[in-house]
Amino acid sequence: MEEAHHIGEVVGGVTALLLIAAGVLAFTKKVKVPFTVLLVIVGMILRAISEAYPHLLPGIAEFEISPGLILFVFLPTLIFESAFNLDARHLGHNLGPVLTLAVPGLLASTFVIGGIVWFLTSLLDVTIPFSSALLLGAILSATDPVSVVSLFKKLGVPERLTILVEGESLFNDATSIVLAAILTDIVVKSGALTAGTVLDGVTTFFIVFLGGLVVGGLMAYVAGIVLGKVEEDPSIEITLTTVLAYLSFFVAEAIFHVSGVMAVIAAGLLLGGWGRMKISVKVRNYLEHFWEYIAFVANALIFLLVGLRVDLHELWSAIAIVGIVILAMLISRTGVVYGLTPIVGRLPGVEPVETRYQHIMFWGGLRGAIALAIVLSLPEEFALRELFITLVIGAVLFTLLVPGLTIEFLVRKLGLDVAPLPDRVARLEGEGVAKQHALDRLPELLKGGLFSMSVGKELQEYCTEDLEETHHQMEKIRAQELDHETEGQLAILRAFAEEKSVYIHLFNEGQISERTFRDMIAELTFQVDAIRHTEQIENVHSHRFSRRRVENFFLNLFDRLPGLSRVAERARLAHIASDYERAWAHCQGSASVLEMIDNLAQMESLPDDIRDTLHARYERWHETAVRQLDQTAGQYPEFVASLQGRQGRRIVLLAQVETIEEQEEYGTLPRPVAETLIEDINHQLSHLRRSVEVSQLRVEPTELLRKVPFFQGVPPDEFTDIANKMRSRTFTEGGTIIQQDTKGDSMFLIARGVVRVSREDDGVSRDLATLMAGEFFGEMALLHGEPRTATVRSITPSSLYELNRDDLDEVIEKYPDMQAALHQASEERKAQMAG
Ligand code: CMP
Repeated sequence: MEEAHHIGEVVGGVTALLLIAAGVLAFTKKVKVPFTVLLVIVGMILRAISEAYPHLLPGIAEFEISPGLILFVFLPTLIFESAFNLDARHLGHNLGPVLTLAVPGLLASTFVIGGIVWFLTSLLDVTIPFSSALLLGAILSATDPVSVVSLFKKLGVPERLTILVEGESLFNDATSIVLAAILTDIVVKSGALTAGTVLDGVTTFFIVFLGGLVVGGLMAYVAGIVLGKVEEDPSIEITLTTVLAYLSFFVAEAIFHVSGVMAVIAAGLLLGGWGRMKISVKVRNYLEHFWEYIAFVANALIFLLVGLRVDLHELWSAIAIVGIVILAMLISRTGVVYGLTPIVGRLPGVEPVETRYQHIMFWGGLRGAIALAIVLSLPEEFALRELFITLVIGAVLFTLLVPGLTIEFLVRKLGLDVAPLPDRVARLEGEGVAKQHALDRLPELLKGGLFSMSVGKELQEYCTEDLEETHHQMEKIRAQELDHETEGQLAILRAFAEEKSVYIHLFNEGQISERTFRDMIAELTFQVDAIRHTEQIENVHSHRFSRRRVENFFLNLFDRLPGLSRVAERARLAHIASDYERAWAHCQGSASVLEMIDNLAQMESLPDDIRDTLHARYERWHETAVRQLDQTAGQYPEFVASLQGRQGRRIVLLAQVETIEEQEEYGTLPRPVAETLIEDINHQLSHLRRSVEVSQLRVEPTELLRKVPFFQGVPPDEFTDIANKMRSRTFTEGGTIIQQDTKGDSMFLIARGVVRVSREDDGVSRDLATLMAGEFFGEMALLHGEPRTATVRSITPSSLYELNRDDLDEVIEKYPDMQAALHQASEERKAQMAG
């Protein structure tokens, strides 16, 4: 009975709070007060009401925040959500300032707050020992900018500012928790700071901090792998992320005694960045909503409970110390933001943080849930516990009500609420294209005869005016803010964005593999960065080739190691398959950009010369891609046919899914039936996604031998015998097969592809020949025992067969005709070389 009663109370309390939160949320849409701030105010009002009229709101005021609940439930939720949605790449670019503020900055802030509080309170005759003052400093140094960040999102402030503020808060939460734990230990146990305790503290700090990262990282990695195996099942996939969030915290804290927050940060960042692609397409959306909602619940409960906890009498009785604490906080924040950020900005590779951002970082450094959670979880035997709780509540309340309510004004005042130029231009162009499209469709609509002439005319006028207005705004931006160069760069960025959307689509549809997709996106990101730093775009493709070079180096090494050459061979075949996929994506991406350029041209929103250069560039890329596709299709017809077959099957299946979903929506197909059907199709789709048909790239040796002129006399059933002696080798475009002047023990037959023979004399290189399927090379070194006379490279993907000296000798013995043929060719080639 007792238990049921208790549960009933909890359910009643939580639902009441959620209901209030929903009401507050509806209300914030009307008034200009951040949600969290309003929650606290409402909480305070509720408490006041329940104190004045105890019968009115029974139980609400007694609803306590348990620190365990905050630490183990709310905290992982909020931190995971924030880390998961933080752009890991952006964070990476800003890691310098973020970590400086979050670690040394937090330590400095701890000392400044602690020092000031200790000194000033001693003047008031209140004794807060220095070590306890430091603990208070650590608790109050963690920033909690939920309301600020949601304001940023609403106002559309620059991405970098959001990353700086959110990133700092994410990491300083961890630092603060770890530091506070260490200090609590010192304060409660020995009460004094000595060299020994400080040194211990520093060591523990690093172990706990980094240990958390490792634990979270590993768990996210495992979760990512498992997620990759689950297909399109929201319940399982969301559950896995939830388990990851709470379990990484728990495992880190309870099993390894390292920082749970760091573990959750690592898990969230890793899963949000690398792992996001492992989550099925349809689930990704659900998942974001799910976490958004969970974070809403956590925030709503925390801030309402904070409000309910504010005891104004107590606050008032400690007002002098609260004042000191607030002053100390402001001074330390000033020192940290304005002192540290300019210093980090001078480090190599760090982009300086502009002053306007620093103002926002200073004023937007609110305090919130973390500080409360830590202070509430201080052990009961700590004598200053109650005082500290009051002080922290006072400080949190101050930051929520003063900076919290004025930050929007500051953001606007500093002009940070204007969306960045590229976004505004893109938006106008998007609108323009849509409106133009509507206008073009109008005659067709009017033709139906359903509209009266006058309405039709009005509509036409309205649309034309609307379009002109967009043109006009575009012209205005162009005249006021855009110079020619910027406009060119913006156009390229738009083109990249279009390309990216195509790749995302191709990946989501399973037309390209995760690996290719990642590569393409990485390449694009690289290009975008290059544009931002105004480098040449033509040069940026090279990084892939340099990676390929490294890979080829290792593959060539593998070739020499027994047992590994098969691995190398498989990897090369896979290269050809992935090059094909890449060309396929490039082809579609550039086609789509070309179409976009045409649309923009129709709108006259691009200056002619910019449009022409961009068009020409994409045309060139498109042609290259098409050529690559054609080439591979020529070299490996079976492979391409099977690939296209697979593609076709996939399109058919996707079309089926679409129709089934439509029928379900209109109610012509019962839901369970539709679900079973779709599940079945998804299964087939996932099967199509998995099989990489590199086997199609392999050429049967017997088939090859038939093409080689000097095997013409060999009876077909003996082909197998010779074929068994040959080793299949594959080379990607540009791969070196034979290097001039090296030792050579084998010759090659070309099954597929084209190779080029070239020779370097006195530093001058000249091409000697181009060889194709059915021809051979590398015989000279074998026949004459000399070093290789020339370098041979594959100029298309190619499949070769390699024949070793001993095996060749055997074959020659059996088929003397071959020897003559080889010698003859060798002599001719030699003559040509000399000539
Ligand atoms: P080898 O010297 O073993 O290695 C380089 C190979 O390039 C050589 O054998 C020939 O097979 C080939 N080669 C050299 N010169 C020519 C040429 N003029 N035409 C065609 N192939 C050649």
